[in-house]
Amino acid sequence: MRHYTLPEDFFFGAAMSGPQTEGAWRIGGKLENMWDTWSNESIDAFHNRVGSYVGNDFMARYRGDLDIMADLGLTSFRTSIQWSRLLDANGELNPQGAAWYHRLFAAAADRGLEVFVNLYHFDMPTYLFRRGGWESREVVEAYARYAQIAFREFGDEIRTWFTFNEPIVEPEQRYMTGVWYPQLHDFSRSLTVRYNISIAHCLATERFRQAQAKGEMRDDARIGLINCFSPSYTKDDPSEADLEAVRMNDGLNNRWWLDIVRDGTLPADVIETLEQRGQRLPHRPGDAQILQLGPVDWLGCNYYQPSRVQAPDAPTDSYGNPRFADAYVWPEARMNTSRGWEIYPKGIYDFGMKCKRDYPGLEFFISENGIGIEGEGRERGGDGRIEDSYRVEFVRDHLAWIARAIDEGAACRGYHYWALIDNWSWANAFKNRYGFIEVDLTQGYARRAKRSADWLKEVVATHIVR
Ligand code: BG6
Repeated sequence: MRHYTLPEDFFFGAAMSGPQTEGAWRIGGKLENMWDTWSNESIDAFHNRVGSYVGNDFMARYRGDLDIMADLGLTSFRTSIQWSRLLDANGELNPQGAAWYHRLFAAAADRGLEVFVNLYHFDMPTYLFRRGGWESREVVEAYARYAQIAFREFGDEIRTWFTFNEPIVEPEQRYMTGVWYPQLHDFSRSLTVRYNISIAHCLATERFRQAQAKGEMRDDARIGLINCFSPSYTKDDPSEADLEAVRMNDGLNNRWWLDIVRDGTLPADVIETLEQRGQRLPHRPGDAQILQLGPVDWLGCNYYQPSRVQAPDAPTDSYGNPRFADAYVWPEARMNTSRGWEIYPKGIYDFGMKCKRDYPGLEFFISENGIGIEGEGRERGGDGRIEDSYRVEFVRDHLAWIARAIDEGAACRGYHYWALIDNWSWANAFKNRYGFIEVDLTQGYARRAKRSADWLKEVVATHIVR
């Protein structure tokens, strides 16, 4: 079988987030975030009625989990600070929350692990949600202050920062598709949320640059943004309208963020189409200057599946929202049938080539990629470990396409798998298991390596993918 070699300075790590792992939801002065509140109010919305409270018990088990990462040879991992843990209800530092993150970062450093810190992973504190959440510019300002406090508190410990994980998800899932609380179907409100998150990213980036100028950050500190950049594809023999659907899908999901982080602008063609459909951005005077603060030092690309679209079959949906693209199922698609997501490793290569062509100079890494399987664990070896050859195949195929993109000049610097250890995943709770390490809910969250972990360890050690 052909094998691929990844560059020596290519890094391997894993991604996770605070709200999906930490647990301890009421300990140490932590405030409720929207996941805690929704768990309290509507536990039936969560798979098997498992709410946010315990995560995967990381706060109790972090030393052991960091040992697992170090033993596998990983050199970095990403997690998120929880806004609702770091700050109190007055927006001031919560010393107990800060102490936890200092403890975590020190324990990681002791094991030679670099922590990449993300500031926001879908986890709005509830009291701010009640004040309008991302629909409110006051909340945007509160986020910028939170970022400033985090930079000041951890600036000499952390090199690598991100303002947001997947900023397109909350506007979509909370305000458009009705999947997450408050389960709305309102394009106009979702556009406001998307726009305000964009402004929040820019303001946090400005605070980062200010902290750098004041000498509060490490000399090598860098700021970035993470998004789920799924290349947009359409039918093999597309109509004009199908190509138009691709333009808007790519424009809203990919170019919107790539233009901000590279040029400090929003894509003019997308704004024009939105306006033609009666959708205006909630611009304020001075916003064009704020957007100019958006460029970052590098980028995280979460890649799970491609985005396949076609012309919508009606201009509006049943709620009266404009439609720009409908999903398209490629007849040749290979599916992860348990998650319902297409497996298309070449998409990761196409993203790298798009960056090289359209955004030269923009460095990135794969900040999430992984395969979630429902009901995993039916097949076990004699030693009780889960046999998950499909995980090896999935990661191998994606790494092979990354290696090829790098050979052809893509500026991809590393790879973080989602998620090294099974974790709680929002309304899906523990339904889809992603980990190389199993979390056994029947045994008090005990960890056990799946068979694929042996393969991962070898790839990380050799940088050879086979
Ligand atoms: C990613 C998110 O998009 O998808 C993660 O950043 C999430 O937070 C992951 O856990 C997997 O989602 P799911 O629904 O398959 O568990």
